[in-house]
Amino acid sequence: MRTQVGIVGAGPAGLTLAHLLHLRGIESVILEARSREYVEQRVRAGVLEQGTVDLLVGTGLGERLRREGIVHSGIELRFGGEGHRIPMSDLTGGRAITIYGQQEVVKDLIGARLAYDGPLLFDTADVALHDLETERPRITYVHDGRPDELECDVIAGCDGFHGVCRDSIPPGVLELHEREYPFGWLGILATVAPSTDELIYAYHERGFALHSLRSPKLSRLYLQVDPDEPIDDWPDERVWGELHLRFERDGWTLREGPIIEKGITPMRSFVAEPMQHGRLYLAGDAAHIVPPTGAKGLNVAVHDVKVLAEALEEWYRSGSTELLESYSATCLRRVWRVQDFSNYMTTLLHRLEADGFEDRLQRARLAYVCSSEAAARSLAENYVGLENV
Ligand code: FAD
Ligand code: DHB
Repeated sequence: MRTQVGIVGAGPAGLTLAHLLHLRGIESVILEARSREYVEQRVRAGVLEQGTVDLLVGTGLGERLRREGIVHSGIELRFGGEGHRIPMSDLTGGRAITIYGQQEVVKDLIGARLAYDGPLLFDTADVALHDLETERPRITYVHDGRPDELECDVIAGCDGFHGVCRDSIPPGVLELHEREYPFGWLGILATVAPSTDELIYAYHERGFALHSLRSPKLSRLYLQVDPDEPIDDWPDERVWGELHLRFERDGWTLREGPIIEKGITPMRSFVAEPMQHGRLYLAGDAAHIVPPTGAKGLNVAVHDVKVLAEALEEWYRSGSTELLESYSATCLRRVWRVQDFSNYMTTLLHRLEADGFEDRLQRARLAYVCSSEAAARSLAENYVGLENV
């Protein structure tokens, strides 16, 4: 098989890239290791920045997003038993976030891809990249039990943090930057009406907690936990008990309901530089990950592929490699802005160590962001997504 752009991975990055390329008349083939059911059911992020929503709506994917997405113009920061609203839209000239599950975005993208018969191969095994430093890079893989090969002009490595693309780059080329956090997030999905209209980010001496949602009947909640704790140590009663303690506030109650999904995710910051080698371009989690406190992972992945689609369009149209050559530098400007914001939100809101000094600093920072319009605006403009970085 031959195509213009070989895409490894059908997550938000790979699927959005294929969609943007199709709109520009550029062919691609997507190879995905998992089944369609698996990628459509995987529960992950839920917050779309204004720019992500604008891109999806502007490229014809807004139908269900507009109907089912829930627009939020503020968030609550809760600490010391009190809530403080950050009015994000007022502080950013009307920009907002939209709550719409990552798997809903993925379903919409897969639906769009299949509607025009765009090649998308699920359950693909043994994906391997070859000849990246030539003008004819290749991907070998096994599909339906048969070995096959895809010859491409370029390859887009959109296969997430644990994929194979980044590791196909020869040793010594990439500079890797990494920070592990000494905690993880236990996330649950519960069939109960959210106890809040807007997201609540809570700082508590027992640890961070986050109340989010997916729909008027579905709540999504997170707890800071030890990253190595087995999930079996967290029966439902313990999860709810801990959530009640960390969200405690006079006159407010947390509604409980059946937990239908539960998992623990470690927290890590990671960046591989540059995001390109030869004819391979990395995008999304394959190149960088952030701790989820700033809700940025999915959004920055979409930004990467927007930059890549524009660069490929320019190259196919005029032969100019200028935008492709600056792909990595352009993306990394936003990647590092997002790394800084995610680190800021993480260290603002998590219990870092059993140290009174650190705790007082965090409380002082929280009080400042809740009382200074300048500090609140800085948080807000990063949270809804900066237009230009
Ligand atoms: P992915 O979504 O990881 O997609 C990569 C795709 O490549 C996958 O479908 C995978 O199956 C496929 N793949 C992997 N290896 C191969 C291979 N060898 N061959 C072919 N295909 C392959 N962000 C938030 O903002 N908030 C959250 O609450 C949040 N929770 C998260 C929870 C978890 C468990 C994880 C892992 C991430 C979470 N994130 C969260 C981050 C966010 O979901 C990611 O940033 C986003 O999914 C990035 O999209 P992507 O397309 O780059 O990568
Ligand atoms: C959600 C995830 C986040 O990482 C976040 O900061 C806010 C909300 C969510 O899954 O809804």
